[in-house]
Amino acid sequence: MTIAQSPLEQTGQLSAERIVQRPRRLRRTAAIRAMVAETRLDPADFVLPLFAVEGLDEPRELAAMPGVRQHTKASLQRAVHEAAQAGVGAVMLFATPAHRDPQGSEAWNPEGILANAVRWAVEAEPGLPVVADVCLDEFTDHGHCGVLAPDGSVDNDATLPLYAKMSCTLADAGAAMLGPSGMMDGQIGVIREALDRAGHCDTVLMAYSAKYASGFFGPFREAVDCQLTGDRRAYQQDPANVIEGLREVELDLAQGADIVMVKPALAYLDVLTKAREISNVPVAAYVVSGEYAMIEFAARAGAIDRKRCILEALTAVKRAGASLIVNYWATEVAGWLRSQGRS
Ligand code: PBG
Repeated sequence: MTIAQSPLEQTGQLSAERIVQRPRRLRRTAAIRAMVAETRLDPADFVLPLFAVEGLDEPRELAAMPGVRQHTKASLQRAVHEAAQAGVGAVMLFATPAHRDPQGSEAWNPEGILANAVRWAVEAEPGLPVVADVCLDEFTDHGHCGVLAPDGSVDNDATLPLYAKMSCTLADAGAAMLGPSGMMDGQIGVIREALDRAGHCDTVLMAYSAKYASGFFGPFREAVDCQLTGDRRAYQQDPANVIEGLREVELDLAQGADIVMVKPALAYLDVLTKAREISNVPVAAYVVSGEYAMIEFAARAGAIDRKRCILEALTAVKRAGASLIVNYWATEVAGWLRSQGRS
């Protein structure tokens, strides 16, 4: 039995005329899609975070971040070399000392683990920019990002000179960039002044400007053996707020930040887009430990396609406005992009 066709359906020409706009034309083949892609990932925009642990005999894989390791000197140097070979833009170093105290004094020890890790990385790849984290949480025995006042709160102004000392130590050790991540008011200005006075006027400040008090930092606590009980809500930002994040960006720009950062990335793409709009410097976004873990564990459970979701997540961060993407997949993804002939 044939179904009667309408006059419009009988003449294909007529219906084609009706639909002049056909966005699907530009999606038809992989080659066309590649040609019209508005966003492209580039390994040069990636920053790879690495963890050094004092006194570690063998590298140790993190249970909460499968595929990410705590490093010894030898394994750190190998990871830095592999990142450079893959075309990754920079590495970012975090370190765990063997001994902690209330002040976090290993943080500014010129022979401490973070300063040493900077030296090891620079020695492995002298041409690769090394970013050192500037924060006390890895170094204090209470795990907060600054020193404590007698009432137990984090003392903003007493912490600033310690960040200044730490910054000068890390710049002396060869860090081309510093990433102040402690969310103390005024930290960028104080660090900039201390660096300039010490002759480090070329050291780049990658400011963690809009850093939220996020549950997605959970796995990072294992990576640095963090001692924190409680949370950081009295100094990191409330996830409910975007205007507050933009104010932090403006303050850091006024204090001399060379790069501003939004962190976490995936849950804060709106903040990232707005930060891009108000900044006249590169904007970085940090795909944090919990965002990494979500994708890794979902992929291991067979729920999602790992490679596809990693590329989609990183593309989304770039599309939202990131010039730089700090992420734990940097070396691996750089390899994928090369084999696609895209880098
Ligand atoms: C603080 C710092 C943290 C992270 C980077 N720098 C932890 C925190 O603020 O609680 C988290 C990074 C991640 O989760 O991947 N030094």
